[in-house]
Amino acid sequence: MFELENFDIKLETDFIGRNFIYCDEIESTNTELLAGKQQYKKTGTVLLAEKQLAGKGRKDRTWQSARGLNLTFSILLMKDVLSGINVNHLNLAASLAVASAIENLYQLKTELKWPNDVLIDKKKVSGILTETSIKGTKIERVVIGIGINLNQIVFQGEFNFPPTSLKLELGNNIEREIILAEILNIFEGLLLELESKPKVILNEWRAKCQMIGDKITITENDEVKSGIFYDIDENGYLLLKRKDSIEKIHFGDVSFV
Ligand code: BTN
Repeated sequence: MFELENFDIKLETDFIGRNFIYCDEIESTNTELLAGKQQYKKTGTVLLAEKQLAGKGRKDRTWQSARGLNLTFSILLMKDVLSGINVNHLNLAASLAVASAIENLYQLKTELKWPNDVLIDKKKVSGILTETSIKGTKIERVVIGIGINLNQIVFQGEFNFPPTSLKLELGNNIEREIILAEILNIFEGLLLELESKPKVILNEWRAKCQMIGDKITITENDEVKSGIFYDIDENGYLLLKRKDSIEKIHFGDVSFV
């Protein structure tokens, strides 16, 4: 069971998570919030599901998560807080919030993998899928979907990166309410900082990405490219150094050579 009271006590935000919707089963929390239904129009709304029947991952993959053991939720941001904010930065800020919450609460060392996976000891503990809905030429809403493996200890299926959970890393059960509140507290702080100091967020992200400087392979659609992970640019895109040129990568999967 998700104990709402335990979550509420720890939540220190002004608006993120203040409209909190809990549901037992849903297709996908991202799809639900993106659909623009009347009841979901408040910035900061958080929708959490115990089980997603069609949880989505990046690049049309699925996100599998056992019922009731982990966290699968989405945060809705409406245009009232989006002006002057780069959506790619939101993506980076969300992964930073998850990584920082894990470090603060459990003293585990985390690492970020471009664009927004959170790793522990080279295994994936969390994935993030940010989606937008556009009206005319303007972004109407952004939905940041976060999946974190907390208390699941068996993972079946094929993964392009080996999965882990906090329970596997720590050996004990994780209180989902506490870590959710911590993530939202940190995320709201980062969101406010993004408007005035996006560079700070980019630098915090860089500091947690140990792959910068490494030889990597990028798979972008069906194309595979190798080079050095040179940096991320001001938009959060990956800069890949290949021979004499630096190529900008917008979308892709990073792996080691
Ligand atoms: C990835 O690593 O490929 C991203 C995974 C994102 C999963 C989360 S779980 C909550 C939200 N709803 C979805 O359908 N997907 C995201």
